[in-house]
Amino acid sequence: MVLYTGEEEEEDYLYRFRELWIVHPALMGTLTSVVFLFVCWTIRDNLKVRDVRGKYVFITGCDSGFGNLLAQRLHRKGFDVIAACLTEKGSDDLKACTCPTLKTVLLNVTNPKSIDNAVTFVAEETGSKGLYGLVNNAGRATPIGPTDWLDMEDFHRVLDVNLIGLIEVTIKFLPLLKKGQGRIVNVASVMGRLAFGGGGYSLSKCGVESFSDSLRRDMQHFGVKVSIIEPGFFKTGVTSLEIIEKDLQRLWNRLCPEVRFAYGDKYFDNYLKVQRLSMKTLCSSDISKVTNCMEHALTAIYPRTRYGAGWDAKLFWLPLSYAPAIVADVMLQMLLPRPIGIKKAVAKNQVDV
Ligand SMILES: *[C@@H]1O[C@H](CO)[C@@H](O)[C@H](O)[C@H]1NC(C)=O
Repeated sequence: MVLYTGEEEEEDYLYRFRELWIVHPALMGTLTSVVFLFVCWTIRDNLKVRDVRGKYVFITGCDSGFGNLLAQRLHRKGFDVIAACLTEKGSDDLKACTCPTLKTVLLNVTNPKSIDNAVTFVAEETGSKGLYGLVNNAGRATPIGPTDWLDMEDFHRVLDVNLIGLIEVTIKFLPLLKKGQGRIVNVASVMGRLAFGGGGYSLSKCGVESFSDSLRRDMQHFGVKVSIIEPGFFKTGVTSLEIIEKDLQRLWNRLCPEVRFAYGDKYFDNYLKVQRLSMKTLCSSDISKVTNCMEHALTAIYPRTRYGAGWDAKLFWLPLSYAPAIVADVMLQMLLPRPIGIKKAVAKNQVDV
């Protein structure tokens, strides 16, 4: 029996490591380079802007969810936050839980006059400094449901807020952002990378992705940086089952008989059941994962272009978005029930439609 002391073992490892270099120099060289690059990237990624005092950040959609939490956190960090809320109540509630130096302004992103008012307010607040940060966070999800349940009005209601509203806010704030050598943080979604759940939501978020990409390429010459946040599923107003189900009921109730017939009587209840289970499994309540990404985009010297927020985004949705369509189709089928189909519906009811 041979007894090794610690020292001998260490020498043994060193010897093997050296031997690995001799036998697989290319492999070891590549590995070392990868590790080295990763370390360099991590150091670069962690470099922070020194002083945030006197830096103005304008955030939309601060009534609840990501915007609300971000406004409070940036305010605590020392930023001069101007939080835009849709409702008087949202604005009052936010003011109640922060000190009075946090400014709020009412903003409805679908109303051009309301955007102009917000721009005037922010221009007066920021003065010669300009705006350091614009966080386009305001958004809505409903109406969301099977495409043949929807009309144009349903699409407009989501697209007007999530995409057209975001573009108008961005364009109107650009002069202030150029003046402040500022940053734009746009909230997209994993559903902008992988479209499902009919309606305007995926479309609008996909639009936010491409608008942000072209904006970044155009604005790099003016010192304005653009980051995109791609959250997975989080418990916020956007994923509120109460709101989604109430709106689905409205859509189901107004369906013409032929369409409803092909889905089957039980479809609506099954849909709600499966959706509840999917959302319960998917939704994380730790929304700080998203606001941490937004904070990084505003405080890092080198903000990233894209942030996947949440494990479901990083490990499931974003990889799935690169997979062949057939793979994504099969996975997504499991999230919602199937309609029984017109042939089966006819066979079952012995009627002709
Ligand atoms: C926002 O503005 C649009 C267009 O002016 C209006 O139709 C809508 O009712 C407004 N929404 C709220 C919540 O005030």
